[in-house]
Amino acid sequence: MKIAVDGPSGAGKSTLSKDIAARLGFVYIDTGAMYRAAALACLRAGINIKEHPEKAVETVRRSAIDLTAEADGQHIFLNGEDVTGLIRTPEISMGASDVSAIPEVRLCLVELQRALAETRNVIMDGRDIGTYVLPDAPVKIFLTATPETRAHRRFLELQERGTSCDYETVLADLKQRDKNDSTRAFAPLKAAEDSILVDTSALSYEESLTKLLSIIKERL
Ligand code: DC
Repeated sequence: MKIAVDGPSGAGKSTLSKDIAARLGFVYIDTGAMYRAAALACLRAGINIKEHPEKAVETVRRSAIDLTAEADGQHIFLNGEDVTGLIRTPEISMGASDVSAIPEVRLCLVELQRALAETRNVIMDGRDIGTYVLPDAPVKIFLTATPETRAHRRFLELQERGTSCDYETVLADLKQRDKNDSTRAFAPLKAAEDSILVDTSALSYEESLTKLLSIIKERL
C-alpha cells in the first residue's frame, strides 16, 4: 500500500505524514531528507552546485545515502554518519533545492525511493511522488497553503530549533524554492492529475490531520 504526499515546503507534509504513518502502521519516508543529505555531501566537498552540476552528480553517486526508521522517527545517514540533525538549516534547504534540479541526481535518489517502497506499506512525502516516483499509488494528496502561512510555520519551526532567522528572509527563501522546484525541467513540483488537493491555510493541525485521514480511509 502506498500513499503519496506532495506539495511545496511548509505545507505540513512531513509532520502530517509522520503522524499518519504512526496511526496506520505505515513506514514514513521523507524524500526531501535525501536531497538534503545530497546537498550536505556537495557543500562538504566545497562544490558550487549551480556552477558545477557535474561535480555534484559525481559526489552524490559516490555518497551512500540511507534512511532508517527509529523509535524517534526517520534518521538519515550520509556515508554511515547520522546527519539527521545537520540538514535542517536554511543553507542546506537552498542547496537541496539546487541539487534536486539536476536530473542525474534525481534518478539516483528516485531509484532508492522506489526500492524503499517496494516491500512495505509506505507514506512518502516529496515533490514528485504522485507524478513520478510512485505514479501507481492508490492515494495521492497534494498539500498546499499560502506562501505567507507556510513561511510563518517555517519561521516558528526554525525559532523553536534555536536557528536565528527573520520572517521576511524565510518568506523570500521559500518563494525562491517554490520557483526552483516548480519550474525545473525534470519531475517538477506539480499536483498529479489524480491527486486530491488539500489547502491547509485555514485549517488547524488537528483539522488537517482529520481531513487527510478521512481521504485516506475513503481511498484505501
Ligand atoms: O521537503 P524538503 O523541504 O525537505 O525538500 C528539500 C528540497 O528537496 C526541496 O527544495 C525540493 C527537493 N525535493 C525534490 O525535489 N523532490 C522530492 N521528492 C523531495 C524534495
